[in-house]
Amino acid sequence: MATYAGRLSAPPAPDIARLAVRTTGLTRRFGDRTVLDRVDLTIEPGEFVALLGRSGSGKSTLLRALAELDHDVAGEGDIDVPENRSVVFQDSRLLPWARVLPNVVLGLSGGPGARQRGVAALAEVGLAGRERAWPTELSGGEQQRVALARSLVREPELLLADEPFGALDALTRIRMHGLLRELCERHRPAVLLVTHDVDEAVVLADRVLVLDEGRIVLDRPNNLPTPRAHRDPRFIEHREILLAALGVGITQDDEGNAEC
Ligand SMILES: Nc1ncnc2c1ncn2[C@@H]1O[C@H](COP(=O)(O)OP(=O)(O)O)[C@@H](O)[C@H]1O
Ligand SMILES: [Mg+2]
Repeated sequence: MATYAGRLSAPPAPDIARLAVRTTGLTRRFGDRTVLDRVDLTIEPGEFVALLGRSGSGKSTLLRALAELDHDVAGEGDIDVPENRSVVFQDSRLLPWARVLPNVVLGLSGGPGARQRGVAALAEVGLAGRERAWPTELSGGEQQRVALARSLVREPELLLADEPFGALDALTRIRMHGLLRELCERHRPAVLLVTHDVDEAVVLADRVLVLDEGRIVLDRPNNLPTPRAHRDPRFIEHREILLAALGVGITQDDEGNAEC
């Protein structure tokens, strides 16, 4: 079965009532081009799933469908997602005319408690004391921290993240990996992380999907203990299998990083 090509055997049937995400026959088209072709996807509550795929393979289209941000796009299929979900993009999308704390609690219901929750969320992402800063006073990494705080302050059941670290330098990205992992272990949302970075997927996810030609061509669990060392032979094996599914030869730099 193509969907579970990465598994040794078919997984146990999921309990549909308690899934965080379920799509059935999800199809999306732009003109004549079918970008998602009958995608069936399930994500368990608290499960961290990474979605890899070549540029243009439909990763963002899938994420936008799950975020229900694609009402203008042609297609069919069923989508079950929780009401309480958050989306993080590559660009932090902070309102430049609002200070950091109002950005975090924007649209949050909950009265006076909202402010306290916002302050706590900022502390969790390492930005205690920056509540009154303007977004332009923050570095790119700090802006993404604010975006994470804004997402998590809502205690989402589902966090959808589209290449959230794609614009950050390598060191900042590594720090953000640690932070995201920590936040997810504490808050336990289901996560769909879109990335083009194979190592990022192996470092962070419980399960990695590869999207190609509109279908999920690999669905591979990742049970490596954390923190995950790039030089661990099991890490290298994961990377090689994912790169093969992406149709790229292995290209490693001196640090052992591999990207597609
Ligand atoms: N609004 C749109 N109109 C027309 N084509 C689109 C639109 N959005 C995406 N596409 C096309 O759909 C394909 C998949 O895009 P996308 O989901 O953004 O890919 P990815 O995120 O994997 O790079 C690409 O060929 C892209 O050009
Ligand atoms: Mg994209």
